[in-house]
Amino acid sequence: MSNTDPVLELRHISKNFLGVHALTDINMTAFAGETICLLGDNGAGKSTLIKIMSGVHRPSGGKLLVDGDEVSFADAHDARALGISTVHQYGGTVPLMSVARNFFLGAEPTLGWGPFQRYDDAFANRVSLEQIHKIGIRRVKDGQQLAGTLSGGERQALAIARAMYFGARVLILDEPTSALGVKEAAETLKLVMRAKNNGLAVIFITHNAHHAMTVGDRFIVLIQGEVAADFRRGERTKDDLLNLMAGGEEFENLELEVDEMRRHTE
Ligand SMILES: Nc1ncnc2c1ncn2[C@@H]1O[C@H](COP(=O)(O)OP(=O)(O)O)[C@@H](O)[C@H]1O
Ligand SMILES: [Mg+2]
Repeated sequence: MSNTDPVLELRHISKNFLGVHALTDINMTAFAGETICLLGDNGAGKSTLIKIMSGVHRPSGGKLLVDGDEVSFADAHDARALGISTVHQYGGTVPLMSVARNFFLGAEPTLGWGPFQRYDDAFANRVSLEQIHKIGIRRVKDGQQLAGTLSGGERQALAIARAMYFGARVLILDEPTSALGVKEAAETLKLVMRAKNNGLAVIFITHNAHHAMTVGDRFIVLIQGEVAADFRRGERTKDDLLNLMAGGEEFENLELEVDEMRRHTE
């Protein structure tokens, strides 16, 4: 491994589901301190691609490399052990559990030995709050607060802080802004910037071109399982991206049809 190796690299990845070509020849390199935006319409293959990166699916062809070495994940646990962590929409938190319990879910800190072992409340509360504050969310003041009472943006913050604390180096965010209002989405975009500034390789899945253009360093657009565009910040305009996303021609045809419908209703 050298400093210039990507943390995560995909080479010629393909995936078929019983005859459906979900992905064809996907290449991608994710570097520390960079945000890649993965864009595409519903059914384009975004979720399938991140499931391959996070060990949930095995590719039908191609290679995955971590720090320059080829890897093969048996499951999501294998990927996490190498620092590849996925945060799902709504942050994947359990609403009826406290912030601290959510933060340490599956890795509960304990006090004492053997039969006297018990959950270390004070440590969990203190550390979970510290970590959430560290990524810039200061409104959460009590580790005992139920996660269900957090805003959408705060839940994302909890999940991202947790991933970072437990050693994530590649942070995959699956449509983190699509269910959020404008203010919360803005807050989440700031979290993306902070994660990247902390040295993570961020892979941000969205179908919102504005959100992508705000924080992305690199952009990959999937159309029907293939890379339709792959460019760096500054190489294309937001309009280019919007056109790619809207599917260009299809949208122009729709505009013509709608014009026609208007004429008939007038
Ligand atoms: N488990 C599966 N079995 C069969 N087909 C699947 C499966 N998962 C995804 N697909 C198909 O793969 C394609 C890409 O889906 P997906 O990755 O979910 O797209 P996106 O996340 O961009 O909306 C779609 O045609 C979808 O129907
Ligand atoms: Mg999806």
